[in-house]
Amino acid sequence: MPLFGKKEETKVDFSHLPRHVAIIMDGNGRWAKSRGLPRTAGHAAGAETFRTIATYCREIGISYLTVYAFSTENWKRPAEEVSAIMKLLKKYLMEAISDMEKEKVRFRFFGDLTPLTPELRTLCEETERSSAKFDGCQVNICLNYGGRDELLRAARAFAADCAAGKDAPESLTDGQFSGYLWSAGVPDPDLVIRPGGEVRISNFLLWQSAYAEFYFTDVNWPDFSKEELRRALAVYQSRSRRFGGI
Ligand code: IPE
Ligand code: IPE
Ligand code: MG
Repeated sequence: MPLFGKKEETKVDFSHLPRHVAIIMDGNGRWAKSRGLPRTAGHAAGAETFRTIATYCREIGISYLTVYAFSTENWKRPAEEVSAIMKLLKKYLMEAISDMEKEKVRFRFFGDLTPLTPELRTLCEETERSSAKFDGCQVNICLNYGGRDELLRAARAFAADCAAGKDAPESLTDGQFSGYLWSAGVPDPDLVIRPGGEVRISNFLLWQSAYAEFYFTDVNWPDFSKEELRRALAVYQSRSRRFGGI
């Protein structure tokens, strides 16, 4: 008998998984600090965690994974940190493009890509275009994303359609408004996970998470593992979702 048996995995009912999981990938900086490393080392470790978790979500059959990679407020950070994050994104996307064909993952980007470097922007657009034919698992990367920014853009676009006579204010429905968001066509998240210990939404999916279940954990994102995800899924499965009913 082995002296140290394999730690038992948290039990999850894989036949009843949430269709859409969203993650606020937080705690990279603190993870690095606690190891005496520069914050950028935390972002690099976080990018690896993203790869592990995205692959696992695809393997177990989660249809949509949305991750918060860079917010509209993250530009406030020192320029060196912002450029290190952008470099990592570029490196990851180049690798993702080569993996995509075999893994059949569809990528979408939520957020305004215009302030990115032309190179990174082209890479994002190209990744989105070339993966659009895949329908197995969809990964949405929120990049320069902010929930309020998204809602303002939607309101402006709808107002413009009304001014052009294509629509009328009184006819606007919930579903139609969703179609003006970056996430058009994607079902709302069922489960929103925030590692890193903060218990706040930080401008993430404000409209879409109206009835999402939330799971917060102190584990920093670079330490977030498949087992952590199974814990979140098990907690999700123990919840009773009533959507306002009884
Ligand atoms: C999340 O980790 C990554 C981004 C916001 C880009 P942080 O960099 O916010 O890490 P902490 O919260 O400072 O530990
Ligand atoms: C949210 O984390 C944004 C991302 C994870 C990309 P932040 O670290 O920016 O959020 P606050 O500042 O703690 O609210
Ligand atoms: Mg943070």
